[in-house]
Amino acid sequence: TTPIRVALLGAGTVGSATARLLVEQKEELGKRIGRPIELVGVACLDPDEVNYPWIDKSLLTTDTAGLCTRADIVIELIGGTTVARTFVLKAIESGASVVTANKALLAKYGPEIYQAAADKGVDIYFEAAVGGAIPFLRPLRESLVGDKVTSMLGIVNGTTNYILDEMTTKGLQFDDVLRDAQAKGYAEADPTGDIEGYDAANKAAIMATLGFHTNVTIDDVSVEGITKITADDIAAAAAEHKVIKLLAVVERSEAGVSARVYPALLPDTHPLASVHGSFNAVFVKAEAADDLMFYGRGAGGDPTASAVVGDVVTEARHIAAGCTGPEIPLYNNLPFAPADAS
Ligand code: HSE
Repeated sequence: TTPIRVALLGAGTVGSATARLLVEQKEELGKRIGRPIELVGVACLDPDEVNYPWIDKSLLTTDTAGLCTRADIVIELIGGTTVARTFVLKAIESGASVVTANKALLAKYGPEIYQAAADKGVDIYFEAAVGGAIPFLRPLRESLVGDKVTSMLGIVNGTTNYILDEMTTKGLQFDDVLRDAQAKGYAEADPTGDIEGYDAANKAAIMATLGFHTNVTIDDVSVEGITKITADDIAAAAAEHKVIKLLAVVERSEAGVSARVYPALLPDTHPLASVHGSFNAVFVKAEAADDLMFYGRGAGGDPTASAVVGDVVTEARHIAAGCTGPEIPLYNNLPFAPADAS
């Protein structure tokens, strides 16, 4: 049997962890798929800079466009919204299915990319884009597709949850914890996207799009980060048995949909109040299912690679079976409802 060809674009933290799983578990994954699977290339900017024992040097290439045309599945882990968009569309155009962890790309160009995939009859999977390792988007897309999701509250940025948690449990000031988070490698060197709420806002757009079958982009999400939160705010909340969490809140009502990111006050008895450190969690309300909660690691090389490789295997099974998976139908044209002040 001919192997299913997998191309990897990007060899950073998540890319290298993904390559390791694909290479080290090749035999096992092939059995689960029912057909062999093969990593046929890893696109990177500078092959001399990529040194992982599990990535054969002969796989490294700077010809990203060329690599996209000789794969059945293209994994996009480049990040950003410009180059990544070009190559994701190129992969689809070439008839490859796409797996990506890129929340910024989907929050900005999701509808264009989903349509391109549907038109070409290929799949796009992106479990790792929200909540890292947490199996959450596929349940939202598939398991809950017969229900009506009414709202989701998410702790979807590990860096800010770590910062707020340290301020709460140790009484520290924002700046001190941020420096500590950077030193420990939790926060980005430039943590603006995390602390100003934009990373969570990208994820909110994706959650609302999938949950409400409508077109929500980053431009539709109102955003407030955590930079103004002080130790005094946290102490005042604690005196009322509340905690401050940066939440992505997406809701559907009679009036339409809303998507917001803001530091919210939660009763300390709420399930999300016990999400500590850099962990993520999403609390979902659906009409028939009632309350659901998803919890796990939202960032990091191995946890994110777990979700990426799960998508690759899912898609490889579709290819082996000669069929495609569910499209992303954005049939609701819901108006935006004004967000409640909270
Ligand atoms: N910077 C993100 C976080 C990484 O802190 O959660 C995962 O998207």
